[in-house]
Amino acid sequence: MNELYKSILQEIESDLKNAPEAKRQCLQYICDTLKEKIEDYDWVGFYLVSEKIPELLELGPFNGAPTDHTEIPFGKGVCGQVASKKKTMIIQDVRQEENYLACSIDVKSEIVVPIIKEGKFVGEIDIDSHKKSPFGEDDETFLQEIGKILIKEDCI
Ligand code: SME
Repeated sequence: MNELYKSILQEIESDLKNAPEAKRQCLQYICDTLKEKIEDYDWVGFYLVSEKIPELLELGPFNGAPTDHTEIPFGKGVCGQVASKKKTMIIQDVRQEENYLACSIDVKSEIVVPIIKEGKFVGEIDIDSHKKSPFGEDDETFLQEIGKILIKEDCI
């Protein structure tokens, strides 16, 4: 993983342990930190599995332009596909993806990484970029690590 991502992971782990405010606002803190520190991350947010309605994702904390997609059924769009398959999806050019829910015309690419807690899918991290093809394996590993930290620190 690249040095920037490694240093962000260290900083996040340390803040969640030592800064009560970061811990309390955990998911929002992650959105704000990633959006601020990573140039190509233009929208950073969480979709969480609904506790009331089966097979539905609900928009959680995010940083970036507001989206109409505050609820997404499993299977629908990139987020819904990740919820169904429980596997990361990287869309380097959103125009090539048929099952896609557009949030803004500025968005060119997207990565969505599932968060699995004790074997159960609980939500996902969703990143949009205004650039085409900015995402690589590093991003998947990095975002999986973020998910692991959130589980370890009992944030999700
Ligand atoms: N593009 C997503 C919808 C969520 S927005 O990116 C915030 C999708 O296709 O599921």
